[in-house]
This record gives sequence, C-alpha cells and structure tokens, in this order.
Amino acid sequence: MAPQLHSSEPVPANTELSGGEATVSDASAEAFGFPINGLSEESRSAFFVGRSFFRGNWVVAGPPATRAGLGPFFNARSCSACHGNDGRGRPPEAGQPLVEVLMRISVPGFDPHRRPLPDPVYGGQIAGQAVPGISREADVVAAYTDVPGQFSDGESYTLRRPTYTVTNLGYGPLAKDALLSPRAAPAMVGLGLLEAVPESQLRAIAKEQAGSGNGINGRLNSVWDITAGKMVAGRFGWKAEQPSVLQQTAGAFNEDMGLTTSLLPRESYTKNQAEVCEKKESDGTIDVGEKILQDVVLYSRTLAVPARRDVQNPVVLSGQRLFHQAGCAVCHVPTLVTGSSDIPQLANQTIHPYTDLLLHDMGDELSDKRPVYDAGGNDWRTPPLWGIGLVSKVNKHTFFLHDGRARSLSEAILWHGGEAKQSRENFRNMSKSDRDALLAFLNSL
Ligand code: HEC
Ligand code: HEC
Repeated sequence: MAPQLHSSEPVPANTELSGGEATVSDASAEAFGFPINGLSEESRSAFFVGRSFFRGNWVVAGPPATRAGLGPFFNARSCSACHGNDGRGRPPEAGQPLVEVLMRISVPGFDPHRRPLPDPVYGGQIAGQAVPGISREADVVAAYTDVPGQFSDGESYTLRRPTYTVTNLGYGPLAKDALLSPRAAPAMVGLGLLEAVPESQLRAIAKEQAGSGNGINGRLNSVWDITAGKMVAGRFGWKAEQPSVLQQTAGAFNEDMGLTTSLLPRESYTKNQAEVCEKKESDGTIDVGEKILQDVVLYSRTLAVPARRDVQNPVVLSGQRLFHQAGCAVCHVPTLVTGSSDIPQLANQTIHPYTDLLLHDMGDELSDKRPVYDAGGNDWRTPPLWGIGLVSKVNKHTFFLHDGRARSLSEAILWHGGEAKQSRENFRNMSKSDRDALLAFLNSL
C-alpha cells in the first residue's frame, strides 16, 4: 500500500513544528519575518536582497537595478504596505478608502484561458494611486451593515457585512455589469512549503471528500501558468488563481505596483488609458530585473512558519478535539507532506498548515459573484491556519476572511456557510467554554 501522506488526524500534542524544518521559534511582532534555518549562504543572501525589494518603497524614476519604475497606476509603493511585517492587511474603517485590501474588477465572461475579462477602461484591478501628472483610477470606499445573530446558548453576536462604493472615477464610469471582488492581503509564511505539496496529494484529498457523503467537496482550481504555457493546479490567492509564488509575485509587481517583469512585460493599463499613460512610459524596458524578481520570489518562498505555542495546555488540547469533532479538519487539513524542492528544507517535510488548498462553496453570504477560472462566486480556497494566532501581535489587528470583514476568529467561523454550514452550526451550538477552547486552539497555531 502506498504510504498515506496527508492526514486529517489530530496533530500530536508535542508537535510545535508546524512547518517541519522550515519552522522558527518566535512569537514576537517579527514572527512572520524570519528566513528558514539552514539556508545555503547564497540563498540567505538572496533572501535579504529580496527583503529589501519587498519592504522598501519603489519610486517613479531612478537608475536601473534600484527600486524604480513604479506606476503609471499602483495600489501601494511596496509589498510590505499590504503585507505589513510579512503579515496580513487591515480592512478600511467605514467611510475610508481601501489600502491594504484591493479591489479586483472584471466584466462577465472569460478569455480563452478562462480568466475573467477586464473592465474595458479600468482593467483587472482598481488602482487608488498614480504617478504625478496622471489621474488616479478611483477610490473604493467601504461601508458596513450589522448582521445580528445568536449562539444556541442565547448569547448574541453581531457580524458586519461590507459593501463598497467606487468613487472619484478618473476615467469615466465603470462597465454597467462590472463585477467586483475585494481581497485582503494574506500572511506570507510557509508559501514555499505549500508550493511543494504534490498535486497528487491534493487530488487524493478531493477524492476522499467527494466520497465521504458529508456534502464537502473541495476542488482544485485550474489556472494558466505563464511559464509552463498550460493550465495547471491553482494554489495561491483567496480563489487559488495563481499556480506559483513566481507568478503571484510577478502579478503583484504588475497590478499592485505598476512594475513590469519578464513574466508580465506590459504595464498594467488599458487601451482606453493608453493616451495618458504612454507619455509616462516611454522606454518600454523591464522595471524589475530578473535577479531582483528571483530574489523577491525566494524571499516569499522561504519565510519560515512560526512554531506553535501552548501545545500541551489542557484547554488548547480540548479545543483541538472540538476542532476535529466540529468537522473543521475536513477542509482545514492538519497534515500534508511536501515532495521535492530545490531548497532542501522545503523538501519532504511533514507540515501542519490546516488547509487542503481546495476551493469550497462557502455560501451566498461570502460570495463575491465574480468567477475566476473554475472558482465560482461562492468558492474560496481553504486558507492555511498556521500562524493565525500571531496575527494580533504581528499586524496589531484580528481581521479575517478574504475581505477582512470578520473582526475576530469567532466571527470568521460564524460567516462559514455552504459546504461549511454544518461545521459552523456545530460551533454555534457549542457551550461558551467549548467555544473558548476552540478559539484557544486556533490561537495556539
Ligand atoms: C495592494 C496590496 C498588495 C500589495 C502591494 C502586494 N500584495 Fe501580495 N497580496 C495581496 C492580496 C490582496 C493577495 C490575495 C490575492 C488574491 O486573492 O488573488 C495577495 C497575495 C499574495 C501572495 C499569495 C499568498 C497566498 O497565501 O496565497 C503572495 C506570494 C504575494 N501576495 C506576494 C506579494 C509580493 C511579492 C508583493 C510585492 C511585489 C506583493 N504581494 C504586493 C495584496 C498585496
Ligand atoms: C467546507 C470547508 C471548510 C470547513 C468545514 C471549515 N472551513 Fe474555515 N474556511 C474555509 C474557507 C474556504 C475559508 C475562507 C473563506 C473566506 O475568506 O471567505 C475559511 C476561513 C476560515 C478562517 C479565517 C482564515 C483567514 O485566514 O482569514 C478561520 C479562522 C476558519 N476558517 C476556521 C474554521 C473552523 C474553526 C472551522 C470549524 C468550526 C472551519 N473553519 C470549518 C473552509 C472551511
């Protein structure tokens, strides 16, 4: 029999090493920012060069191989402006424009690779900033509506549902049928490990879920890989719409910062914006040279996973049992095993990311109604939960889910619907002390 790789079994109580050898013991505000131990000297130096290009602000103009070439449109001047401390973005307060959350936009339909069709004027993403002399695209302003609810024990809670208004449009109206999808920046830890999990393992999990008859039915997204020139499994982003850290990084440079790379050599503006933009982008050279791109990718792949805390604490152990009893582990799969990798510490590791990297229908309430490849509006990729208990330290907030609408871990669970509805109800029906234990477990990750 083939060895079983992934496992839905509880992680043993003595296992603090969520990322295998790629784990680091630190629970400070810097916990998401360490390189994995034992990198070769060459990789370590690439890591720190990558960090300087990830954290430093880019500017509009400057000599080659410096952080220059920003714009014409951009959402932020650095990767860190959204992934603060290599962690996650903060959603805007009511009435404030989006900054660390970005707004994807498209019109109904797909291109031949099943990518969403960009808005004819504004493209695939709304940029709140532009270089001097060009109008910004727009502001996206958030508002929140209270949604009351009650636990079975009678305790009440209030969730908040976000809505968005696009204002200060610089280039005329949006398409009438424009589809919008807000996305908060996720934390950056352990991405190289998730990339190294063999696709066969993810397919085996999907098959197991489909066969279990409990209504949970995860699917891999199938996305266009620019380098391979074919459709492959999607792994990154809230809808698993990117196949690799490389392509996600090139996409971030291009759409979030207006920087071209070998993968995406065209500046991110549409034909309808060409007249204003071409005055600013005359030379057509690549903004981010190959070495810098590769260093930022290496940085993003080798950020270590923080070790768990309080693993033997009886409340945490009871919360872990409840996590499994409530069916959370069906999607938030505790254990995966990585395959081969060019970086030895990422290869053949038993890891505890609490994800299946699969898309699940999470119900109408969480839907963005904007399909991407095979991910429908209701579909979201199970996010990894490793490090989630440290977000409050690293990013000084506890906003969760794809748009940051949940103000706490408890609210994140209460928004679960669709395939996760029964699991959410199991949580809603727990006693207060059981709910607290489950949250203590999540906070130990
Ligand atoms: C304007 C905010 C913003 C900026 C700037 C930004 N990101 Fe992101 N990042 C996001 C969002 C939002 C997502 C989720 C995207 C999605 O759902 O498709 C993301 C996702 C990612 C992911 C995938 C993480 C995962 O768990 O799936 C990586 C890797 C990443 N970004 C790297 C970078 C790099 C490298 C840079 C700088 C070149 C950068 N990002 C700049 C907002 C940002
Ligand atoms: C059917 C699969 C499924 C089940 C079952 C499930 N989840 Fe999730 N979970 C998801 C998906 C998908 C998301 C992302 C949804 C979104 O962002 O809109 C998510 C998001 C979360 C988040 C927020 C993560 C983040 O990075 O923002 C937490 C916390 C969480 N789940 C905990 C739980 C707990 C605890 C349970 C059991 C009570 C559970 N989940 C059951 C699929 C599932």
